[in-house]
Amino acid sequence: MATLLAIESSCDETAVAVVRGVAGSAVEVLASEVSSQIPLHREHGGVVPELASRNHLLVLRALVEKALCDAGVGMGEVDAFAATSGPGLASSLLIGSTAAKGMACAADKPFLGINHLEGHLLSPFIDRTAVPEHLALIVSGGHTLLLDVEGPGKYTKLGSTRDDAAGEAFDKVGKMLELPYPGGPEIEKAAREGNAAAYDFPRSMLHDPHLDFSFSGLKTAVLYTLQREEGKVSVADLAASFQQAVIEVLVGKTMKAARQSGRRIVALSGGVSMNRALRAAMEEACGNAGFELVISPPEFCTDNAAMIAFAGLLRHLGGERSELGADIHPNLPLV
Ligand code: KG4
Ligand code: ZN
Repeated sequence: MATLLAIESSCDETAVAVVRGVAGSAVEVLASEVSSQIPLHREHGGVVPELASRNHLLVLRALVEKALCDAGVGMGEVDAFAATSGPGLASSLLIGSTAAKGMACAADKPFLGINHLEGHLLSPFIDRTAVPEHLALIVSGGHTLLLDVEGPGKYTKLGSTRDDAAGEAFDKVGKMLELPYPGGPEIEKAAREGNAAAYDFPRSMLHDPHLDFSFSGLKTAVLYTLQREEGKVSVADLAASFQQAVIEVLVGKTMKAARQSGRRIVALSGGVSMNRALRAAMEEACGNAGFELVISPPEFCTDNAAMIAFAGLLRHLGGERSELGADIHPNLPLV
């Protein structure tokens, strides 16, 4: 049985989690604290790195204490410490990583640097006894990634975005529509009242043979529509039509990848997987094609430390550890 404390601070959420588990059985999430900085960045319309790192530092100590208290675990009972080592904002990554290394060093326990994308990738299986072979789609603010997963640590990239990530497109279109940051949840809300067939936006690369994505053309199409229909546009219709275009591409490419990979399980993770219309569309497509769909629990879709702790615990139980001198990597690839 091992207990691990993890810190996630790659962008604008400061998060600390404590998990416990043994190889071959489901991990217990004893505590998962997230302190969101969204209100802090909202007035700037996006994340301001200097504000983010300063705030991580301000809240981290209290968050660690709260996580340990909620978990009913003393610092001396923690067997290993983990932190996100990338990808993300350098100044933000440094805060969480340095804090986790400091705790590991003081307690003379192992430290593990975890790839943020591996955290998202494995999060749908956090309450399972094992990570099965599957086809994965990660859709976050920074990444849109299709992967073939043979098991923990065995990943093959099948496709990714050639320009904007899906979440980034949601956020940029949200800004165009003058909706608060982040745009994703706001567009989903507006779209519920709109007609998804009102505007015929492009489904970029949907029928191309490769498994890459492109969302910048869609973003430009929204911009041109706004300029053309100055003042007359229905925000709800435009949000619904935009969201529908993103969903059709994500679902279409995922089904193509799943068929090609031969896997029977499809997993969906990352902030955009909070989107209920996407979840429903993926559910329907997987049902029709005979795939089992596994989606991250809602609390583990957007950035959180439980997913980092889970990935860290799997690696720790497998005998891995990182050097205390290991650096952070703002552009760390997953594969
Ligand atoms: O995974 P995440 O918290 O951070 C990154 O690793 O990037 O994802 C954040 C992204 C943002 O772009 C946000 O707008 C998007 O997830 N998002 C959503 C929804 N909730 C969050 N996009 C669409 N619909 C949502 N309900
Ligand atoms: Zn993330």
